[in-house]
Amino acid sequence: MKINNICCIGAGYVGGPTMAVIAQKNPKINVTVVDINKERINQWNSTDLNKLPIFEPGLDKVIAETRGRNLFFSNEIEKNIKNSEMIFISVNTPTKTYGDGKGMAADLRYVELCARKIAEVAEDDKIVVEKSTLPVKTAAAIKNILDETGSGVHFEILSNPEFLAEGTAMRDLEVPDRVLIGGGQNKSGNAAINALVKIYSSWVPSENILTTNLWSSELSKLVSNAFLAQRISSINSISELCEKTGADVDEVAKAIGMDSRIGSKFLKTSVGFGGSCFQKDILNLVYISKSLGLDKVSEYWNQVIILNNHQRERFAKKILTSLYNTVAEKKICFLGWSFKKDTNDTRESAAIYVADLLIDELANIAVYDPKVSMNQIFNDLNKLSTREKNKNEQFLRVEPNPYDAASNSHAIAILTEWDEFKNLDWNKIFNSMKKPAFIFDGRNILDKNKIEKIGFVYNGIGKPQ
Ligand SMILES: NC(=O)c1ccc[n+]([C@@H]2O[C@H](COP(=O)([O-])OP(=O)(O)OC[C@H]3O[C@@H](n4cnc5c(N)ncnc54)[C@H](O)[C@@H]3O)[C@@H](O)[C@H]2O)c1
Repeated sequence: MKINNICCIGAGYVGGPTMAVIAQKNPKINVTVVDINKERINQWNSTDLNKLPIFEPGLDKVIAETRGRNLFFSNEIEKNIKNSEMIFISVNTPTKTYGDGKGMAADLRYVELCARKIAEVAEDDKIVVEKSTLPVKTAAAIKNILDETGSGVHFEILSNPEFLAEGTAMRDLEVPDRVLIGGGQNKSGNAAINALVKIYSSWVPSENILTTNLWSSELSKLVSNAFLAQRISSINSISELCEKTGADVDEVAKAIGMDSRIGSKFLKTSVGFGGSCFQKDILNLVYISKSLGLDKVSEYWNQVIILNNHQRERFAKKILTSLYNTVAEKKICFLGWSFKKDTNDTRESAAIYVADLLIDELANIAVYDPKVSMNQIFNDLNKLSTREKNKNEQFLRVEPNPYDAASNSHAIAILTEWDEFKNLDWNKIFNSMKKPAFIFDGRNILDKNKIEKIGFVYNGIGKPQ
């Protein structure tokens, strides 16, 4: 099947950047990203490239090159589904907050709505590509909805999970470790797989394009995130052991990472992983395993989440105990709110949890983050905490620069590893703080010796105490 028009439903952190790169590398294919969220589409269409809805290094350049040429952002969902031979579903699949599987299973209502919409408006054969991360076997449900509610046209389902990491999304898309495409193992399935392989072949070497059956592809995405998160929880568990024994977790990570069987990536300890995916995808894996009666498998993966929650709580507790067991009315400066550097995404960020725990102890928190807005910070906190909205406003404020956030504070907590935090005028900050001036480096980005020389009391994660 020749693909001239692609429609992607969902203009988020995945839909926007992935389609921008597909459009950039395939100038003869028209790519339209649609969304029910009008404001988001307006932001994607903004002439000021600083106003794109997501911040991702290098994204603005690709948008400038492609938008209006063969990349479009639109709210006209039906028209664009109708006009396209290939439709990507890239909508959110959060953890269910209600009913059966609450707190664990993926909420598939947005995906189902997309399938129903495609079935309702399609007038000719379509290839439907799952770009969202989905539980294994979802393609069967999508196929069923499409076939049962469609008007007799043929739908071929592919799974093409996205492996980009926020903060490095453009590079990950440009030179992916692999592109994974799962599809039906029959003639029409193979034809659909080939059509998608052709699109990626415009820039991805063929040895990096992996084709599998549908279920392997769907499951691989969940397993990939589970393995990555597991490494973080593993090294974080060792960080606690280091603090009790005098070992240094960064030295341990380096020593074990030089073993080529282990490898050095994803061995950086921290206050805990965040982001929209790791927790949700592991919970999903835990839920699927449990539903299939695989209790031991389910418990094994659940431990990755338990350890991550423990790491955040441990960090908040460390601040409390170090500050003489009371932070009531003390000012604590938070450097960073996003879940990692180079993104404005705050979903599941450790900062939200640590702030909530410290506000429970009546601390006053002053936050500085270079990319996250004040609205977003309060939304995050109000969503997590059981406190009334105005209570959070009493205890937390957002500052426009790190120096105001730190001034008169008793302690600084580094929650995000933004590069600019390494090069702050730490002498100036020290002089503006209450003494003793504590630093809790939740990302181990500062040089302990230099910081201690200035006079700070330094606490890194997994560092000798
Ligand atoms: N964010 C990541 O780093 C990442 C990486 C890999 C995979 N994923 C997966 O990709 C999927 C999307 O994630 P995201 O971070 O882009 O989510 P997102 O929340 O940023 O974007 C999803 C978009 O879908 C839109 N949407 C929801 N229902 C819709 C509907 N019925 N019709 C039209 N638009 C609709 C929403 O308005 C939203 O703009 C998820 O399954 C996620 O697990 C995310």
